[in-house]
Amino acid sequence: MLILNSPEVTQETCLRWKREATLAFVPTMGCLHEGHLALVKKAKELASRVVVSIFVNPLQFAPHEDFEKYPRVFNEDCEKLKSLDVDLLFHPTVNDLYPEGFSSKVSVGDIGNRLCGAFRPNHFDGVATVVLKLFEITSCDFAIFGEKDYQQLTIIQQLTRDFNLPVCVVPHPTIRAEDDVALSSRNLYLSNLERVAARQIPRVLNLSRQEAFNDPAQTVEQLLVKLRPLLTEQGLKVQYLEITQTRQLTPADPLASLKTLILPHLFLAVYAGSTRLIDNISLSIER
Ligand code: PAF
Repeated sequence: MLILNSPEVTQETCLRWKREATLAFVPTMGCLHEGHLALVKKAKELASRVVVSIFVNPLQFAPHEDFEKYPRVFNEDCEKLKSLDVDLLFHPTVNDLYPEGFSSKVSVGDIGNRLCGAFRPNHFDGVATVVLKLFEITSCDFAIFGEKDYQQLTIIQQLTRDFNLPVCVVPHPTIRAEDDVALSSRNLYLSNLERVAARQIPRVLNLSRQEAFNDPAQTVEQLLVKLRPLLTEQGLKVQYLEITQTRQLTPADPLASLKTLILPHLFLAVYAGSTRLIDNISLSIER
């Protein structure tokens, strides 16, 4: 496995490979778990060369967030990627990607101000900016994104359409632990008790889907009013619990009945102690 930190050398290498290979890319911030490794395995199925990046992107963290504290375990990550036979690991420093004088930023528009974006101003602009750079550096044919970060996935799909990027964005289903909690690098922060509380998240998601099937005439508000206490009674602090519709994740009218929504999707962000956890589920009949 080649490990490179220079964007220029990475770009040259990927362009050389692209003459006779297809290239699939998995962007990460490191601290790799089975969820990331599933994306890498998918990348290997899709293309003849696989590139992974590890970069904790300061542009997507607000000053009070966990940029400094974000877990960094480079050597362990390398071993995991080597064992999967990854071709190239791109591991730039902040200065490599944002040298002095760097000033252009992507603005993702309204979709970046909803759901997580309502609580993390500029977060998705920061994600889109780094992903655009990474796509340019790797010239990838495919890029794999997990559905756990469904809003991020939707925004990256929008970015590739808006800027005519020749990249096929491939969604990958959320990978869950045995207790059904979605895998996340931030799960490392959870105490035992917080982990027990976190198990309520997938229960509530599954219940929301059952409800949508069993009683599709109920309104968005009626369903949310049932679900919210199930989270709070376990000690989880709800940051948001929302239902959207359409591929643009438009907020659903609280008075609309579930059966009238196009591609309804439930999103939540909760705090278990000081750890913020997000998850989501489709409420569509076809999934
Ligand atoms: O999902 C992540 O880990 C990050 O947001 C990404 C896509 C690697 C961009 O920094």
